[in-house]
Amino acid sequence: MNLFQKVIYFFLTLNLIIFHVICQGIPSPRYEQASSLVGTRLYFFGGVINTTTINEVWYLDLSNFISTSTLQWKSDVSMTVGYNLGASCVNPIDNSTVYLVGGRSFNTNNYLNTSSIYVFNSKNSQWSTLNITGFNNSFIARNELPVIINNNGKIFLFGGRKLEINVAPLFNDINILDTTTMIWSTPVISQNVPTPRGDHAAVLLPTGIIIYIGGYNLVSSINSAISLNEIQLFDTNSLSWTTRSAGGNSIDGRLGHSVILIQNGNIILYGGSIGSNLGSQALPDLAVLDTNIWEWSIPSISQLNAPPPLTFHSAVLYKFYMIISFGRITTATNLTLNGNIYIFDTINYVWVTNLNSIIPSTTSTVTTATSKVSTKTSHTTQTTVNSNSSSNNVNYGLIIGISVAAGAVGIAILSFCGMKIYKNRLQRKTVATPGH
Ligand SMILES: *[C@@H]1O[C@H](CO)[C@@H](O)[C@H](O)[C@H]1NC(C)=O
Ligand SMILES: *[C@@H]1O[C@H](CO)[C@@H](O)[C@H](O)[C@H]1NC(C)=O
Repeated sequence: MNLFQKVIYFFLTLNLIIFHVICQGIPSPRYEQASSLVGTRLYFFGGVINTTTINEVWYLDLSNFISTSTLQWKSDVSMTVGYNLGASCVNPIDNSTVYLVGGRSFNTNNYLNTSSIYVFNSKNSQWSTLNITGFNNSFIARNELPVIINNNGKIFLFGGRKLEINVAPLFNDINILDTTTMIWSTPVISQNVPTPRGDHAAVLLPTGIIIYIGGYNLVSSINSAISLNEIQLFDTNSLSWTTRSAGGNSIDGRLGHSVILIQNGNIILYGGSIGSNLGSQALPDLAVLDTNIWEWSIPSISQLNAPPPLTFHSAVLYKFYMIISFGRITTATNLTLNGNIYIFDTINYVWVTNLNSIIPSTTSTVTTATSKVSTKTSHTTQTTVNSNSSSNNVNYGLIIGISVAAGAVGIAILSFCGMKIYKNRLQRKTVATPGH
């Protein structure tokens, strides 16, 4: 190769890399997806786009996060079925296996009325289903429930709603899948069992207590939001229920909301609606439950960079940031979906657009907290390491550096992005990415 060829070759390679990064597409707005933080990757599984349940899998690598306006989306291997209104959790023993539990599975838009648990190995992007021992055949497939996995790899399911029928019943049983033995159990509990419910949200305290917040029950066949003064605690050690009465500020009962546990033991609740109808926003959008004194409060927060009111969105805690994604815009009276990401800094109590907050020095130790955190649609631990090495990892920092250095050439190359013919031709030359 002469120098000229080398230069051409260099820019051609650069071109391909930039196409790979910039032109690979962004997910459409959606809701009712499942979401989990796996290491630094924030995954989204399935969901609904308008009326279509989808099987897409997308993720954002938060270690490369620049800003909410320049999201570097990556698609991963799709699910074998369309999937919505279920929840995902990450195995805390390997920090890489994701279980999608409950939910609606669609295949060409028909319900698959199964109780399948879909398993995603995030290390090699492989999907599988579980072989469960002692599966309770009287367990009825269900959706609209949160899942919690504890430190020992036991998955806890509480409540949810039967699939298919219009006025389907809600459940109030606890089912447990031990992922270390693949044994299923349905404990018989008679004391303090909460009323049946769906679209509730849950977090796990480090003590092994699951806190269930909100959701709806059926009153004369009508969805009725459960009061947020009623907090249900399930002890995963003794398999027993306790009810707490939460005081403080008055917060609308709601469904389709999210909760996360932050470092000081407070729970941050976001979004949700007071009923199933469009436009039925629950107020306020953001509230805090202090689990030491069981009181709700409504913090005063600037609306700068804040999300719209959302229902059936996702929320995870990454370091000390609550990341809110997708969802239905609750106030809209025609179905309107959100495709954006919003970030709440849970130390400074401010909505931000990047992950570069300055932590006041007095609270700088909080990032070492190891409490397990779960949300309506996901489970996450506060791990920030466990970087999965996979062939489609791209060093964005390097590429952006290169493209800036390449200056006008880079801009010229980027302008090709809109030209489909080039895109198609060039993508064929790039290394195959799962999901494309
Ligand atoms: C998984 O994450 C937890 C919490 O950060 C950590 O203690 C544990 O060592 C990790 N396990 C593996 C196998 O990476
Ligand atoms: C199976 O589930 C039903 C309903 O929740 C329960 O009554 C029954 O005890 C369970 N059976 C076993 C073997 O756990």
